[in-house]
Amino acid sequence: MASITIRKLDSKTKQWLRMRAAKNGHSMEEEARLLFDHMQSNEISRQVLPAEIPDNNAAVAKPKNQSKNTKRAIAKATPFSHEILAEKNILLIISGGIAAYKCLALIRRLRERGARIKTVMTRAAEEFVTPMSVSALTAEPVYSDLFDRDDEHDVGHIRLSREADLVLVVPATANLMAKMAHGLADDLASTILLATNKPVLLAPAMNPMMWQHPATVRNMHTLADDGIYSIGPGTGEMAESGEAGTGRMAEPEEILQAVETMLDHRPKPLKGLSAVITSGPTREAIDPVRYLSNHSSGKQGHAIAMALQEAGADVTLVSGPVSIPDPAGVSVVHVETAEDMKLAVDQALPADMAIFVAAVADWRPASNADEKIKKAKGKAPPALKLMENPDILKGIGNRTKSRPTLVVGFAAETEDVIAHAKTKLKKKGADWILANDVSPETGVMGGDFNTIRLISESGVEDWPKLNKQQVAHRLVDKIAGFFDEVVVEV
Ligand SMILES: Cc1cc2nc3c(=O)[nH]c(=O)nc-3n(C[C@H](O)[C@H](O)[C@H](O)COP(=O)(O)O)c2cc1C
Repeated sequence: MASITIRKLDSKTKQWLRMRAAKNGHSMEEEARLLFDHMQSNEISRQVLPAEIPDNNAAVAKPKNQSKNTKRAIAKATPFSHEILAEKNILLIISGGIAAYKCLALIRRLRERGARIKTVMTRAAEEFVTPMSVSALTAEPVYSDLFDRDDEHDVGHIRLSREADLVLVVPATANLMAKMAHGLADDLASTILLATNKPVLLAPAMNPMMWQHPATVRNMHTLADDGIYSIGPGTGEMAESGEAGTGRMAEPEEILQAVETMLDHRPKPLKGLSAVITSGPTREAIDPVRYLSNHSSGKQGHAIAMALQEAGADVTLVSGPVSIPDPAGVSVVHVETAEDMKLAVDQALPADMAIFVAAVADWRPASNADEKIKKAKGKAPPALKLMENPDILKGIGNRTKSRPTLVVGFAAETEDVIAHAKTKLKKKGADWILANDVSPETGVMGGDFNTIRLISESGVEDWPKLNKQQVAHRLVDKIAGFFDEVVVEV
């Protein structure tokens, strides 16, 4: 019998296997096993193997689904991205649109994060912002003349286009994009854009009629096909009074996040793997205004979702009602009740891993009054009859079909933490249980720290007291190690 380690497959093969597994409702391991079975019986041929798989990294924003692509670009950015831009060289091209003034804010944000910015302005751009302001903010001269004798003695336009890690066009006018789509090079900006061998990100901004014009639509398609990235435009009020629609430039923060995403080359040990994670409490209605819930803040689950995403996993977070923001880069499904949470988890599967951090209410009121239950003088308080909620972890952990390769549960206990967690590991069919003592004096529920004991078949691992981000990163390291070792027997 031979064996292969899924983790050690090259990224295209892994991606292909994951897509195929998702389509067929299998885990990656199951799918790999089936494939080998089929191959042995000559049921598949080489032609479906990974050569044809488009590389996701090369995905470019296509005009037809601008908003989708914009969201994807923004979504992938991470909050720990300050270092991503340190020492990065960005060539900013400003073209002549009314949104050019927003560049000044963008330059400040980029520089705060340590990026070095050189700027090229078109002739028209100088009508909207002064080279003086741009130069003062970038602490660099502004380039605008293709035939500048000082800059072109060493073919400066080629140098500028090659020194950069990224060429950023903000705003990108309809005119400049039309020139790019047709390979025109009649000024410094368009010549650099034709000469560059670096990724290019456009932030289009124009009047909605210009954006919708078939010529612009055609040009955007061409640029997308040429591998040019874009962010926005969004929908809203235009600078021109009384005009609204799609054409508004993405905000500087959104552009910044898209830049960070494009320049984020950190290792991604979980790339190609998918994760479903639950977080926060559930709320079980008693009547339209009252509910049963618990003190879970969602901090731990959200931190894990974020750490998984940073490690390259494709993450779906099913979150109960919490007051913390959605983690960037993660698809978030907001739910209220345990039943909704179960449904959302089922819909997010299949996945390579499922991590259940949410404090799901064990019971819900057996009936949920349509109207607020009234207090009346002399009337006894209503009896609260409870019924059991679905056990989401147990359902997934004990699956025989399409069970995630790794199932992790949290056990919040107030006594006999290890004993309860060990029982839970067995009963729920989990691979690991992360047990924590949530007695009020520990301050874990709602607090920033956690003391974890990881229980698996191979024993108990005591972690020191860590903040919830540290717990998340330690768990992600452990998960990466686990998937390194996943072996498919063939
Ligand atoms: C007040 C004003 C605002 C403009 N705003 C835009 C705009 O937002 N987007 C755009 O594509 N063109 C806009 N234009 C038209 C461009 O400035 C014009 O097409 C110019 O030739 C662009 O040159 P460039 O692409 O070399 O920068 C505007 C023109 C004026 C006078």
